Amino acid sequence: MAKTYLVTGGAGFIGSNFVLYMLHKYDDIKIVNVDLLTYAGNLENLASIESDERHVFVQADIRDAQAIAALFEKYDIDYVVNFAAESHVDRSIVDPGAFASTNVMGTVNMLNCTRAAWEREDGSYPEGKKYLQVSTDEVYGSLSIDEPDTFFREDTPINPHSPYSASKASADLFVKAYGDTYGMPVNITRCSNNYGPFQFPEKLIPLMINNAEAHRELPVYGDGLNVRDWLYVEDHCKAIDLVLSNGRVGEVYNVGGHNERPNIFIVKKIIEETSRATGDEAITEDLIKYVQDRKGHDRRYGIAPDKIKAELGWEPETRFEDGIVKTIDWYLAHKEWMEHVTSGAYLEYYNKMYGVR
Ligand code: NAD
Ligand code: TYD
Repeated sequence: MAKTYLVTGGAGFIGSNFVLYMLHKYDDIKIVNVDLLTYAGNLENLASIESDERHVFVQADIRDAQAIAALFEKYDIDYVVNFAAESHVDRSIVDPGAFASTNVMGTVNMLNCTRAAWEREDGSYPEGKKYLQVSTDEVYGSLSIDEPDTFFREDTPINPHSPYSASKASADLFVKAYGDTYGMPVNITRCSNNYGPFQFPEKLIPLMINNAEAHRELPVYGDGLNVRDWLYVEDHCKAIDLVLSNGRVGEVYNVGGHNERPNIFIVKKIIEETSRATGDEAITEDLIKYVQDRKGHDRRYGIAPDKIKAELGWEPETRFEDGIVKTIDWYLAHKEWMEHVTSGAYLEYYNKMYGVR
């Protein structure tokens, strides 16, 4: 039967990729897309589905109880997928309160509204409904680069370090509590670092592509040897789709692709591929500038995706070598998008964080 999805944060990076992926994959779904359109949300990400009647966009705050309850009244929602969040670690270090507010209180409000709409008088829930919290591997804390055979697993204790990961961990615990206390049908996915189209250029990969192309400095934090486990965004979207339809209720699923790379490797790869794609020989490693390390900078993230592979048959499909070239080509072909999202508030932020260049 046709399913109705309530997607939050669907004008952001992963949310918009998810909405586009799902509408492409399924003919008969409806997506109600709620996004506050903060600096990170862009309706341009959804321009290709502007006239698609299966998609309804609503500008609203996930902390707004009335606005979210009204959507449950208007639509018979089967799946809630909560992407909406403040998502950048550097910003969380400057303004932790914003992260507590959106990521924790916003999630609690989403849970309350979902429960109010779905819970029957006897405390049961209709078959097939599900609330999925899109979380991050950062809730597990940090691994050592000297022990490359250690990984985050679903039973790794939660041990967040940044205000961002603390807020995401808190949200996860509320989701778990609503499952344990009210029997709410929930899942949590914890994914590693994503890359691909529509990522806001404050994050490592689009920031480096944008700067390299404009011959701006490439700020590498600390010694550049921090490791992230990179996953092409479409592979994350596929995992979420699988967990929604086949994931066991109440379970956490880690999502990642054994694709760990030190930051400096990523930056050098971007220099090489951007120079190749543009034919611009001025894009060289001379642009790299080692800058002060991020406070509390997690050294390494690494996911063991054994559970989602064994239970749901999920595996990453895009090799990093292909994904990074596809991603660079996409940003180079979408300069208007980049100009649009990097005007105004972004420039102010960038100059404050990194100094005017
Ligand atoms: P993003 O910052 O690109 O997008 C977040 C979206 O949420 C934006 O469209 C923004 O307008 C919206 N939003 C923010 N506050 C809101 C509010 N109060 N009400 C409604 N909408 C609001 O983030 P992203 O990278 O797409 O991440 C999406 C989710 O995935 C987040 O929950 C993040 O923690 C999680 N995640 C991200 C990554 C990653 O690598 N980017 C990895 C794992 C998990
Ligand atoms: P980021 O994209 O912010 O993701 P996260 O911190 O959530 O993993 O950063 C990825 C890595 O790149 C992280 O180790 C910090 C580093 N980094 C830089 O070295 N320079 C930069 O300008 C940025 C934004 C990040």
